Amino acid sequence: MDYKIFLSPPHMGDNEQKYINEVFKSNYIAPVGEFIDRFEQAVCSYTKSKYACAVINGTAAIHLALRILDIGERDKVLTSTFTFIGSVTPILFQKAEPIFIDSDASWNIDPNLLEDAIKKEKPKAVIITHLYGQMAKIEEIVYLCNKYGVYLVEDAAESLGATYKDKHSGTFGDFGIYSFNGNKIITTSSGGMLVSGNEEWIKKAKKLSTQAREPVDWYEHKEVGYNYRMSNVLAAIGVAQMEVLKERVKRKREIFALYEKHLKDIADFMPEIEYSKGNRWLTTLVFKNKNPFDVMEKLKRNYIESRPLWKPMHLQPVFKSAKAYLNKTSEHLFKKGLCLPSGTALSDKEIIDICQIVRR
Ligand SMILES: Cc1ncc(COP(=O)(O)O)c(C=O)c1O
Repeated sequence: MDYKIFLSPPHMGDNEQKYINEVFKSNYIAPVGEFIDRFEQAVCSYTKSKYACAVINGTAAIHLALRILDIGERDKVLTSTFTFIGSVTPILFQKAEPIFIDSDASWNIDPNLLEDAIKKEKPKAVIITHLYGQMAKIEEIVYLCNKYGVYLVEDAAESLGATYKDKHSGTFGDFGIYSFNGNKIITTSSGGMLVSGNEEWIKKAKKLSTQAREPVDWYEHKEVGYNYRMSNVLAAIGVAQMEVLKERVKRKREIFALYEKHLKDIADFMPEIEYSKGNRWLTTLVFKNKNPFDVMEKLKRNYIESRPLWKPMHLQPVFKSAKAYLNKTSEHLFKKGLCLPSGTALSDKEIIDICQIVRR
């Protein structure tokens, strides 16, 4: 489809091309080079994460987290059902069992259902998603994971820049991950980052992501790793994108507020929990009366891209035999909700025009 307005396209700043040229001049067109360190440092200093490992995508970052936590066959991992499949596939890569947990009124994982499931299933880890850039009830989730001795991995793929009590998403759990794929708040075309307060774990992630090569002159392997390390070329884009992240969060929040102002009588918007500040990656809403799929068609006819909310994982054919703790929230959201175009280069006028088409 030839869209005029995409859902969340890349938005480059002033320095991406310049830094790529520097990489080309140095000829470090490889998964090594100074921009990888600079990108990791930039993410650490922005989010106040202690340690970071840049990788090829967010899914790989979650996979590394599970591998380092020694999640394997016969282990159970509880995870949000209302999320993107990239949160879940790493559980299967490790041959562990995913068990899905529904959302509450925050649209993110329901801590009450989570506690029920932790008590019954005795999982080794929990992966929670901060969906659409909005913080999940992280204080309650951290409390539960500590109380029951369960590892916590935060899927902050969509929520770089979101905070709860001024602490960044991705920095509450044992591990956090960010994605830089083409539609995220900042992008490196594809890319991801694993962050943790545990230095040894991040050292291990760097080793596993480079084929678990031992630190000797020849290629020596005592364990099996992956080819997951980020390229220096993509890290150069990442360093430049980190310079504009603050502005991007500001603009995403303005876009959300503008849509809310013009559509709040016909739709309910994704809530923001108390003490939190989302990055509002996508403006998402649930219509009071309209069918979102009709609105999507109408926008498409005007060459404007929109998207249904995530189809819950427990409804996906591929997970039809997986266990789930449900309360119908995510099913309702999927049936009634829509993501509206949220690109940070959109003008206020374009957003108001989109609102008019939605209302019609
Ligand atoms: C919630 C969520 N988890 C995981 C991922 C996976 O990230 P990536 O596409 O970089 O592998 C994404 C992004 O697509 C996502 O939105």
